Amino acid sequence: MKNSVSWKSALLGALAAVVLLLLVALIVVVTGAYNVAATDRHAPLVGWALDTTMQNSVESRAADLPAPVAFTPEMIAAGAGEYKAMCEHCHGGVGAGRAGWAKLMRPHPPALAEAASEWEPAEVFWIVNHGIKMSGMPAFGATHDEQTIWNIAGFVKMLPEMSAAEYAAYGSGSGNASHGHEGGSSSHDH
Ligand code: HEC
Repeated sequence: MKNSVSWKSALLGALAAVVLLLLVALIVVVTGAYNVAATDRHAPLVGWALDTTMQNSVESRAADLPAPVAFTPEMIAAGAGEYKAMCEHCHGGVGAGRAGWAKLMRPHPPALAEAASEWEPAEVFWIVNHGIKMSGMPAFGATHDEQTIWNIAGFVKMLPEMSAAEYAAYGSGSGNASHGHEGGSSSHDH
């Protein structure tokens, strides 16, 4: 009998703690106590939770995507044009910096010349296709076909081993195609 009483009071205590936590969260949400300024750094624990959530979410969703067995030089070259037109201003290239305003984004768009080695091609594809919520990383899947996005993923995966001269030698010629797509998508924005 005594045992079941202490079990019940422990349960009540836990419930009270959960209700209190929810109440605190609600107060933060409705009072504006949380600072959303990009100039304000995340607390380390919040930063860790957001990064880890993003990485595991992408990893589990991209796991079954059928990546091409190999990326041909033509695919890489086509991806380079798209990358220079649509990604470089946020992520930079090899020996090519980001736009000044992109440096002030939070989360910061990582330099893919380094960060790309941490992702599988299918994960880069998934990120470019779907974008990342609450980060400013756009979803390109609505305006670009799958082949184009695989080309971009192939090029991104090459970045960590590329020299600045090799990067510069890739033309940004196919940027025209992306502008056509972007124009077509503007009707979605209203
Ligand atoms: C408007 C700026 C912007 C543009 C344009 C943009 N991105 Fe991003 N991207 C971001 C931001 C911000 C993040 C960080 C997201 C996060 O940490 O949650 C990100 C994250 C990523 C990541 C994950 C990197 C990592 O290690 O966390 C990849 C890969 C990526 N972007 C690829 C691309 C590619 C390829 C393009 C072009 C097709 C592109 N992005 C265009 C802003 C941008």
